[in-house]
Amino acid sequence: MATEDIPVIAVDGPGGAGKGTVCQALAAQLDWHLLDSGALYRLVALDAMRAGIDLDDEAGVTQRAQRLDVVFATDGRISLAGDDVSEAIRSEGCSQGASRVAALPAVRTALIDRQRAFCRPPGLVADGRDMGSVVFPGARLKVFLTASVEERARRRYKQLKDKGIDVSLARLSEELGERDRRDAARAVAPLKAAPDAWHLDTTGLSIDAVVAQVMSWAVTAFPELNLPGKGME
Ligand code: C5P
Repeated sequence: MATEDIPVIAVDGPGGAGKGTVCQALAAQLDWHLLDSGALYRLVALDAMRAGIDLDDEAGVTQRAQRLDVVFATDGRISLAGDDVSEAIRSEGCSQGASRVAALPAVRTALIDRQRAFCRPPGLVADGRDMGSVVFPGARLKVFLTASVEERARRRYKQLKDKGIDVSLARLSEELGERDRRDAARAVAPLKAAPDAWHLDTTGLSIDAVVAQVMSWAVTAFPELNLPGKGME
């Protein structure tokens, strides 16, 4: 199957809009591959921090990003240079670090091929900020998920609490706002919807409702795949 024929659902939007959970559910229902592109930026940040490289040192960070030794296991675990970092990359330090290295154009370029390599049959659900606009501009279904900053902070707060991590809601809200501003203001691939993306505000919606909406768009976008019979029974 030629790469351009592989079905891709590109899901973009700000942090906490529900993309991660929704993309996991979509990929599981469809039995497609999943790309968590945010994890790649988090890995680059963690790797640079561990190597003592300043996160504004574009050449230094890029050099390491090009050689990043990462394994995405089928059970969802992620390892960096043989070390399981699945939890470590979710820390607030890595969130902020990821959004700093993501603003460096050469780092973004270094990660493009690695992201495109996830596009394999039978299909791909790609989660990020520039999936529909830059990495997979030919994706037949592009979705842009949003939610109010308060709701996004509440979701992140709950996620962290469930993991036993103690955080302040006000501080989380502030940090999300800061990341949003940095992601939207950067010169290369800023956070913005592709012109042909379907928008969905997930404030007040359950994960199931969001997944059902995206699946119904997918049925229209990929008529030849007969999706309702495959994934939604
Ligand atoms: O989605 P997640 O919160 O894991 O992403 C972490 C950071 O990585 C984002 O704040 C953003 O700066 C960056 N990112 C990006 N492009 C992507 C995915 C994530 O710039 N496709």
